[in-house]
Amino acid sequence: MKILSIESSCDETAAAIVEDRTVLSSVVNTQIEEHKKYGGVVPEIASRRHSENISAVVDKAVKDAGLTYSDIDAVAVTHAPGLIGALLVGVNFAKGLALSLDVPLIPVHHLRSHIAANYIAHKNLEPPFLCLLVSGGNTVLAEVKDYTCFNILGATRDDAAGECFDKAARQMGLSYPGGVTLDKIATTPDTKKYPLPTPILTGNEYDFSFSGLKTAVVNTVHNAKQKGEEIDVPVLAATLRAKVCDILKAKTFLAAKNLGYKKIVLAGGVSANSELRQVFEAECNKRNYELYFPPLSLCGDNAAMVGAQAIFEYKNGNIADMSLNATATLPINYTNEGNCNE
Ligand code: KG4
Repeated sequence: MKILSIESSCDETAAAIVEDRTVLSSVVNTQIEEHKKYGGVVPEIASRRHSENISAVVDKAVKDAGLTYSDIDAVAVTHAPGLIGALLVGVNFAKGLALSLDVPLIPVHHLRSHIAANYIAHKNLEPPFLCLLVSGGNTVLAEVKDYTCFNILGATRDDAAGECFDKAARQMGLSYPGGVTLDKIATTPDTKKYPLPTPILTGNEYDFSFSGLKTAVVNTVHNAKQKGEEIDVPVLAATLRAKVCDILKAKTFLAAKNLGYKKIVLAGGVSANSELRQVFEAECNKRNYELYFPPLSLCGDNAAMVGAQAIFEYKNGNIADMSLNATATLPINYTNEGNCNE
């Protein structure tokens, strides 16, 4: 089944043709350079650029796959969560396309597709597994019981890990997207020079909190400025990166031990982080666990991962009609299907 998939949840306009776990074409038009000027994504600009670019991006995906529109068996689209104006561009385009081609329309949850990036890279990967999903807008620890069946164990109570990286990096004078720049320039951590707090949470032991860390970096930078001192940015960046990775590791491996998971999957933009990958690799080797993460090309937003998830949504009967709408916020387990015992 050849699925034409569309992604426009943030600042990438993307389209792909995917057949099961094979990517026949993938086109990503990123707006990063434009948003860099403002230090972050400007939602109104993102929506306008999606509107301008989507038609050409979809056309290119069809041509690159060596196909014509009549070869398309279904249209899939990211419908949630994300920037509402940005999502609406993709959703409306997908609706028009599915209607005109007379093929099924498959709505795909953005976080589910980040997990599915792993199915493209690791052909034998199958649920159940434990997944740490770390992106710019979300930090979620979930049991992936089946392809469309998720149990959320914990999530961030405030900022996502990527948001913490991006905002702290901005304070350090690093360019957008800060997480990427911070990872590149970070050297060796020094907790004596830059002591950062470890968030202590009551209640759910699998929840995260990153806003206190972000504030600690902001205060460190402001205090230094007031005293006329120079910040050692590569060391502060490394100290923050190590702290965030420590927290993500501790919660994930606690859940793995408590729930008996020996298969761990990383997903989302922050899964590109070099230290996160190393730390998880070392821990999995030590415990004899299997570890999966996507290649760098599939960590950020793209449409190939939407197509990879879409086939499972389709098989599970998740097909939309022309009333499909975009939704800014939606939990990953918004449907209780299959053998879900939530
Ligand atoms: O998954 P994604 O592309 O978009 C969302 O769906 O949110 O994630 C973007 C986030 C940004 O916060 C970006 O700074 C972060 O992923 N990111 C990284 C790295 N690469 C991307 N954070 C830390 N280290 C990286 N190497």
